[in-house]
Amino acid sequence: MNPTIHIEAGCLDNAGAIARQFVGGALAAIVSDDTVFSRYGSRLEASLKAAGWDVVRFVFPHGEAQKNLATYGELLSFLAEQHLTRTDVIFALGGGVTGDLAGFAAATYLRGVGLVQIPTSLLACVDSSVGGKTAVDLPQGKNLAGAFYPPHCVVIDPALTHSLPEETFRDGMAEVIKYAATLDGSLYEAIDHLPQTLEEVISRCVALKDQVVAEDLRDNGLRQLLNFGHTFGHAIEKQADYTLGHGACVAMGMAIMARACAAKGLCSPACRDRLLRTLTAWKLPTKTAFAPETLFLHLLSDKKRRGQKLTLVVLRETGRAELTPVLLEEALDFLKTGWEA
Ligand code: GLY
Repeated sequence: MNPTIHIEAGCLDNAGAIARQFVGGALAAIVSDDTVFSRYGSRLEASLKAAGWDVVRFVFPHGEAQKNLATYGELLSFLAEQHLTRTDVIFALGGGVTGDLAGFAAATYLRGVGLVQIPTSLLACVDSSVGGKTAVDLPQGKNLAGAFYPPHCVVIDPALTHSLPEETFRDGMAEVIKYAATLDGSLYEAIDHLPQTLEEVISRCVALKDQVVAEDLRDNGLRQLLNFGHTFGHAIEKQADYTLGHGACVAMGMAIMARACAAKGLCSPACRDRLLRTLTAWKLPTKTAFAPETLFLHLLSDKKRRGQKLTLVVLRETGRAELTPVLLEEALDFLKTGWEA
């Protein structure tokens, strides 16, 4: 495992000392939303002070709607007012929204300052805090302005995910199940034994993601496997006007792909059923009422579209997926087949 990724239950209280091995500076800026900061902010502050940092904090209202240019601008101004220098450090304490926003500020303020990710949601632990994708949303779409900026250190305290509402935890489980379906089928067994295996499951997902990102940071090939279920999932998310959880939409996207792949003979029925059974066990949805033709319209504005082609992540066997470029009409056929099957 990458030595800059530290995973240990209860390590939030030691985050300052852990991060000190990888980042220097005199000033630490904690970036967090109001909900997370009220729960964990004082513990992080105490540990950063104990590790020798002066601490300032930028706390913003929670929610995806805040991941925008206005909040990003306010954060940059805050960092400038605090005279944060290039050797100083931003600590992103929170879920995906906080990590993306704080990461993008760290990538761009002074053309790059120190960045430590401290994820508090399951989704952020296993996905967004690792791999260096940072972004804010534009009115025209999600994550349209961003940068690849790997954090200098990631401190993952699995115990923090226990305090999440069940629905938020389940949302993160969709990404966990994605790793089992596409990269390591044996992970299903550890998933079946949650919550006892939580630390193991998080560690294995992070290790898988870290390996993929080490080979393809900039998303030119292998990393696109991590988009399994996301092409159709994003279309559902958009059609629902972002009222459904990201994980729930990815679950429906994965289920559509699995049913389509089995129907087309690309994977076995057993491979499809393992995925569907696990999604259902976690009360994640596997069907959508939105018609394939409606969802297809969103594929036309998918940022991964290249002319008349899209690259789909196709399931081949349990724990193995392949990137398959298809014409738009073939993508519609996958959508229809997986929707109807
Ligand atoms: N969440 C997909 C990726 O990091 O590439």
